[in-house]
Amino acid sequence: MLDRATRGIPADFLNSGESLNDLYLIIHAVDDIRPGAYYFRRDKRALELLKEGDFRREAGYLGLGQEIPADCSVNIYFLADLNRALERFGNRGYRAAQLEASIMGGKLYLAAYAQRLGASGLTFFDDDVTEFFSPHAAGKSVMFLLALGKSAKKRGLNVI
Ligand SMILES: Cc1cc2nc3c(=O)[nH]c(=O)nc-3n(C[C@H](O)[C@H](O)[C@H](O)COP(=O)(O)O)c2cc1C
Repeated sequence: MLDRATRGIPADFLNSGESLNDLYLIIHAVDDIRPGAYYFRRDKRALELLKEGDFRREAGYLGLGQEIPADCSVNIYFLADLNRALERFGNRGYRAAQLEASIMGGKLYLAAYAQRLGASGLTFFDDDVTEFFSPHAAGKSVMFLLALGKSAKKRGLNVI
């Protein structure tokens, strides 16, 4: 899903292969991957482990204390270096970074639903997310957060 969602979008503000956003993940429960915080190495199409551990409690806090980011299988955060984007594009840089993150997020939604997984866009404590992934993410700002997992609704656990 990460591979397919990060193959670039056609946009006048991006040269081929370029991206304004980096993907950071908190993995709780994904087959064959140890729980922990990861950075997606786009050049290698691989996950780089930043810190190993069960971060459900932290992810729940970072997602405004909601259940979904703690309970899901993986949280995917889109982080952009806004200073660089603003220097390059002026005020448009913020909109460009948001647009790119939302389109990549949209691709992940489609990839999830196609596999009958659940996906939910979430709000977050901006600076705390950057701090959680630092020093790697120092200076970057969060544009979007998407939680992926097996939907409780589909499992029949959350039908009201
Ligand atoms: C940028 C963005 C942020 C969102 N933040 C939250 C959030 O913090 N909490 C939440 O319950 N839904 C949030 N939503 C909405 C959910 O992604 C979802 O659409 C909503 O919970 C309805 O889901 P359902 O139709 O599966 O019930 C957000 C959506 C977007 C696009």
